[in-house]
Amino acid sequence: MTGLQGLTGGRELVMVSNRLPVDRVVEADGSTAWRTSPGGLVTAVEPIVEQLGCVWVGWAGSADEHVDPFEIGRMRLEPVELSTDDVELYYEGFSNGTLWPLYHDVIAPPEFHRQWWDRYRKVNQRFAERVAAVAAEGAIAWIHDYQLQLVPAMLRELRPDLTIGFFLHIPFPPRGLFEQLPWRRSIISGLLGADVIGFQRVPDAISFRTIADRYTHTQALGNTMVLPATSDAPGRTVLAQEFPISIDAAAFAEVARRPETQDRARQIRAELGNPKTVMLGVDRLDYTKGIRHRLKAFDELLVDDEIDASQIVLVQVASPSRERVDAYRQLRDEVEVTVGRINGEHGTIGHAPLVYLHRGYSREEMVAMYLAADVLVVTPLRDGMNLVAKEYVACREDEQGVLILSEFAGAADELRDALLVNPHDIEGLKAAMLRAVHMPQEEQHRRMHGMRRAVHDNDVAHWASGFLGSMTAISESRATAHTGGPEDGMTGPISIVPPAFVPRSVGDRLRRIATASSLLVATDFDGTIAPIVRRPQDARMLPRARQALELLNAAPGVRVALLSGRSLDGLAETGTGTGGEGWIISGSHGSELTGLELPGVSGADGGAPTAEEVDWLQRVNRRFERVLGGEPGVRLERKPFGIAVHTREVRDPDQSRELQAAAVELGIAEGLHVREGKEVREFSVRASNKGAVLQSIRDALPSGPVLFLGDDVTDEDAFAVLGPDDLGIKVGPGDTAATGRVPDPETVAAVLARLVELRTGIVIGSD
Ligand code: ADP
Ligand code: F6P
Repeated sequence: MTGLQGLTGGRELVMVSNRLPVDRVVEADGSTAWRTSPGGLVTAVEPIVEQLGCVWVGWAGSADEHVDPFEIGRMRLEPVELSTDDVELYYEGFSNGTLWPLYHDVIAPPEFHRQWWDRYRKVNQRFAERVAAVAAEGAIAWIHDYQLQLVPAMLRELRPDLTIGFFLHIPFPPRGLFEQLPWRRSIISGLLGADVIGFQRVPDAISFRTIADRYTHTQALGNTMVLPATSDAPGRTVLAQEFPISIDAAAFAEVARRPETQDRARQIRAELGNPKTVMLGVDRLDYTKGIRHRLKAFDELLVDDEIDASQIVLVQVASPSRERVDAYRQLRDEVEVTVGRINGEHGTIGHAPLVYLHRGYSREEMVAMYLAADVLVVTPLRDGMNLVAKEYVACREDEQGVLILSEFAGAADELRDALLVNPHDIEGLKAAMLRAVHMPQEEQHRRMHGMRRAVHDNDVAHWASGFLGSMTAISESRATAHTGGPEDGMTGPISIVPPAFVPRSVGDRLRRIATASSLLVATDFDGTIAPIVRRPQDARMLPRARQALELLNAAPGVRVALLSGRSLDGLAETGTGTGGEGWIISGSHGSELTGLELPGVSGADGGAPTAEEVDWLQRVNRRFERVLGGEPGVRLERKPFGIAVHTREVRDPDQSRELQAAAVELGIAEGLHVREGKEVREFSVRASNKGAVLQSIRDALPSGPVLFLGDDVTDEDAFAVLGPDDLGIKVGPGDTAATGRVPDPETVAAVLARLVELRTGIVIGSD
């Protein structure tokens, strides 16, 4: 896993979850031991804290038990005590009898009891107080999951110096379900105490923002929620967006590579009687996991003789979970009866087609099972992510094995090469099982290859750096706001009301470049000075950003340049026009330029496409129209030197990705230069990029430092040409070559306003 050091900016990290990563268990002989807690949260978070170290606040897993703080590796564990009543009312009751079923689409009916809610509040308060007591000054508190949704606001009240993040590991329900909750407003307000709220999937984040907008006085600007100032608290912003969780893929692969693991995999197959096909299911024994559906499909295939009971084994690992909650007890009874019945009907003395294992296993044993399995069956009816699916893929370096995956698991967004199923459709599930059993090796290889790339590209380090990176950017902004004006010699506050503060690290470097005799301020448009909107033509520059850029351009020695992927005409559509008088504007990723004479670069004043390019463009436009023009939600934008395929309005994210891939294939076949952006693929007959045009602009101007701001992958070309005396600022999460980062366009506006102030003394208020 790539290094995570530096992500917390030197601040202490406090992890907060209902359970500690280890549970205290009493062995048969009465002795006590520590065992890894069940579930995906620990699988994902543990490798992060192994690198970063942390204080971890949580319950030790037994009721009425006081455990003193203790250390494991780089973690200091701070146990929170839960009484028998707390476990019954807060954990089994409100968390797992109300929230869990409600958030998972009411697979089991949620119950609403005021007594449960009261206890939920009290226990959340206890967690908040504990974190407040142990966290160092300015620490980062990262709170996890649905059991602790009130903690962010409670903690903010107690410790306003902390940067607070919240990640929901399970789905966030659609509005129609969430609204049933009698305490819906309190839950939303509780979550809004965080600076960053992370969700597994895009629809979860959208649903949260929509509900927050409706039930609180917040306003959603893209992924950012703006909370207005109140009599007791300044306004602030909350980033609420998707951060799909993952696993330490390299660590799983490493275990899978060990000869002893591979021996154990062979041994497992031998112990199962070396059947032709081993199918595997690995789940907490939870009604959301679709275990009943899976068994039903398997049973019907056996009954109909579509699979041969002597040639197949389905191993179902079902780890014990929430065993005192009624719905879980019933599920266990039902699954165990079904397993017995299937084996009774289809087994022989030497062979059982179903092996049911109700216990926990070591990482090594789990990996050996993944290697032994020809097919992994993952059929949740609703699941935040499902890490088991990713683990299987990470382990299969042989690129063999088939993954059957429910469309309703978050993992289905990334693992598009799985056999995707709707687990409610038993016929479809049976068909997928048959397909998996008979899948040729070549196809297994192709599918596994694609999935492995997805899992390695988005591993847990990527997840952690996205989330912690956002938290750190915000905490730096707040640090600047707290120490703010006087220290910086400012004449007034820059942005104590929302949105956005200038991060300290950026503020320091701004001061350095602000006084240079010549300065070039260059910026991207969409997502940088204009928030992303659904319809590109509706994008508008933030008024504060525009005002700042105009003042900068008017200041002696400063030039402003706008570098956009849009064509100049497309920019004009947004009302940007030529910006202010005398701006340099480059469109179409550097193919167009106005406001500065540069030989060889086209623009309103010359350098139009050659006759050959015109012919080529006509052919390209015809082909794209024919292949993609009729696809719902796809918008084709003709550009002076190419064409852009926008998929932002395609409703289904999977379909959007497929269309992008189809566009890229087409573009490559046409010999075009391809550029990937956020939900857009751009194709050009000319090789140009923002880096090259930025370099040409700076070469044509008196020498001096450059400030460049951008949010998209296409802006990386510009960051790449910056030198040590320049300042590159990346907007939002994601890997970057920029040395500064801010969370959103509102903060960009604050940065520009600050630069105006440093350069001219003029103070621009917030919008
Ligand atoms: P959830 O968080 O709902 O339990 P996930 O699939 O995201 O579901 O994560 C489950 C995690 O628990 C995985 O890391 C998986 O390897 C692990 N796991 C599941 N069953 C067992 C078991 N019987 N023994 C050990 N680990 C298990
Ligand atoms: O994925 C949901 C989740 O709650 C995780 O937070 C946790 O890893 C797992 O389920 C275990 O749940 P419990 O603590 O109730 O056993």
